[in-house]
Amino acid sequence: MVVTIDGPAGAGKSSAARTLAERLGFAFLDTGGMYRAVAFAALERGVELTDAEGLLRIAQGVAIESLDGRVVLDGLDVTRAVRTVRVTAATRHAADHPGVREHLVQMQRQTAEGRDLVTEGRDQSTVVFPDAQCKIFLTASERVRAERRFLDLSGRGERLSLDEVLRAQHQRDEEDFHRPTGGLIKAPDAIEVNTDGLSPEQVVERLMTLVSASRGPI
Ligand code: DC
Repeated sequence: MVVTIDGPAGAGKSSAARTLAERLGFAFLDTGGMYRAVAFAALERGVELTDAEGLLRIAQGVAIESLDGRVVLDGLDVTRAVRTVRVTAATRHAADHPGVREHLVQMQRQTAEGRDLVTEGRDQSTVVFPDAQCKIFLTASERVRAERRFLDLSGRGERLSLDEVLRAQHQRDEEDFHRPTGGLIKAPDAIEVNTDGLSPEQVVERLMTLVSASRGPI
């Protein structure tokens, strides 16, 4: 079974998807981590992010795993390194690249072969797993999302004001919603869950209910 969770940055997808996967005994795929890993590898190797061929060569030449909360690039744990403000900003170039997307989409489908999976990103319900049994669109208001990201960044020692976080988030929403391939759209058969005012536990409870309903009686 595949459960897809899509939504904008800061809606709480990663932590909800991870806990949901643990509760269900499924694997958890963080597809944003894959786009981040490509951008990180390009930065590390001095490949210009605007060099479309170079970026594709990087994507095709590295081994990326983004399962169960860890991002591993060519055998190295880069989970924290790919979440810095610098890599987050650079990731747009990987996400906007149709060839890179195609390659990562294939990898995501391969990951689902032979295992139950909770997968999160922007295009999981629409492009990657259009036949998924349970599709969720996780949202929250701009303000709530920015506050969560602000707390997360402060906890990791990144010094950004809430206003700066709001501006960066607004920019990322624009990019995510308007990307020609793999843009963020709610699939017609996805169920929207707004996480404003819900604790992480309450979000997971709601998702568990939706997954149970989509599985039908056992
Ligand atoms: O979910 P995240 O913040 O880790 O994602 C990082 C960036 O990657 C985000 O700005 C959009 C992009 N992304 C994407 O285009 N498609 C996905 N399936 C996942 C992420």
